[in-house]
Amino acid sequence: MDLELTEEQRMIRDTAREFAKAEVEPKAKELDEKGRWPTEILAKMAELGLMGVGIPTEYGGAGMDAMSYALAMEEISAGCASCGVIMSVNNSLYCDPVYKFGTDAQKERWLTPYAAGKKLGCFGLTEPMSGSDAQTMGTFAERVPGGNGDKWILNGSKNWITNGPHADTVIVFAITDKPEGWSPGALNKGKVKHTAFLVDAGTKGWTREKPDEKMGIHAAHSCTLFFENVELSDENCLGGAGNGFKVAMATLDGGRIGIACQALGIARAAYEKAIDYAKERKSFGVPIASHQAIQFMLADMATELDAARLLIWRAASLKDKGQRHTSESAIAKLFASEMATRVTHKAIQIFGGYGYSKEYSLERHYRDARITEIYEGTSEIQRIVIAANALKG
Ligand code: CAA
Repeated sequence: MDLELTEEQRMIRDTAREFAKAEVEPKAKELDEKGRWPTEILAKMAELGLMGVGIPTEYGGAGMDAMSYALAMEEISAGCASCGVIMSVNNSLYCDPVYKFGTDAQKERWLTPYAAGKKLGCFGLTEPMSGSDAQTMGTFAERVPGGNGDKWILNGSKNWITNGPHADTVIVFAITDKPEGWSPGALNKGKVKHTAFLVDAGTKGWTREKPDEKMGIHAAHSCTLFFENVELSDENCLGGAGNGFKVAMATLDGGRIGIACQALGIARAAYEKAIDYAKERKSFGVPIASHQAIQFMLADMATELDAARLLIWRAASLKDKGQRHTSESAIAKLFASEMATRVTHKAIQIFGGYGYSKEYSLERHYRDARITEIYEGTSEIQRIVIAANALKG
């Protein structure tokens, strides 16, 4: 792995950093307080090529690599964690699988406008009764004879779908082949077949609930999606019938890099504020940065940030080489997300009472960090993935 960034990588990092400092961070408090969807920021991110960083230019993307995506994700998330996850879902969970598994016709229709940031995508895997045990989903698509060939009838619901309230298309994962006696929630490993479908907003039978109320990332809206007798054709089928679970898992290998970057950005923002505050704030007649207790906290925070960044860069560089990076992505996500909770916790400690106050952004960073240990696979799921890889062969 080359730790020297290329000119192109430095350029996208610097562009994203300047934009985040000038136009994202100044609005982050207001976005959080109002739970406001950041329409104007997303429009600018689209102009900067941030909504489809790794997608080739012929499909509307910026044509850059996974390292560039990781660098930009860290910067945007340091400015606003909500903007970070909206970007991550569109890039990693929507555009990536459509590029990787889509036919030419699907890419033209369902990739180009999304990678260009003109439309927004989301990813529908989780269900009210199926989260970590993703294979046990209850959403079902039945193949039935139609007027012009066979069609699919989709029924079910998906929840916690980030970008769901605003998305133009959702990738829905559904069971399409079930054994005798199957019921939702039953674990029929290997016997049940899943399929991924591209479902457009406005398709008859697709409805959405109001946005979820959450502890953090208030501006990144999520909601429950319902599908009632939604009619689809083979055109909507992504990656072939029966391959849906592998499409979902391979997609999450990339998605987990994005969430690791989000955690890193949140933690870095809290750390930088803690450094500045420690130099200014005085106690016992000296800046608190002179106290070894504070210095040790800052030293641990700096070490953990670097470690997370290096793990992310390793996973991104394997992705760029086209190598399997399931375990490396899980390691990066596990470490970065738990690190973000530790680092934002310490930053609040350094700020003391001001860290606990709503007036400053430390409590927001702490709330925003917490979700990174949960979505795109909890820390426990990352440990399952890492252990399975470690014990293999
Ligand atoms: N790439 C390709 N194929 C993979 C794969 C990968 N990374 N991981 C597994 N597979 C394949 C396996 O090879 C296996 O194939 P065969 O049947 O041909 O052997 C098949 O998939 C099933 O694999 P497992 O037996 O390992 O599956 P499992 O049921 O034990 O589940 C799991 C594994 C890792 C626990 C998985 O269920 C999982 O990741 N759960 C967490 C779900 C998750 O992360 N949800 C996030 C939702 S999205 C979100 O959160 C977005 C947001 O809000 C921002």
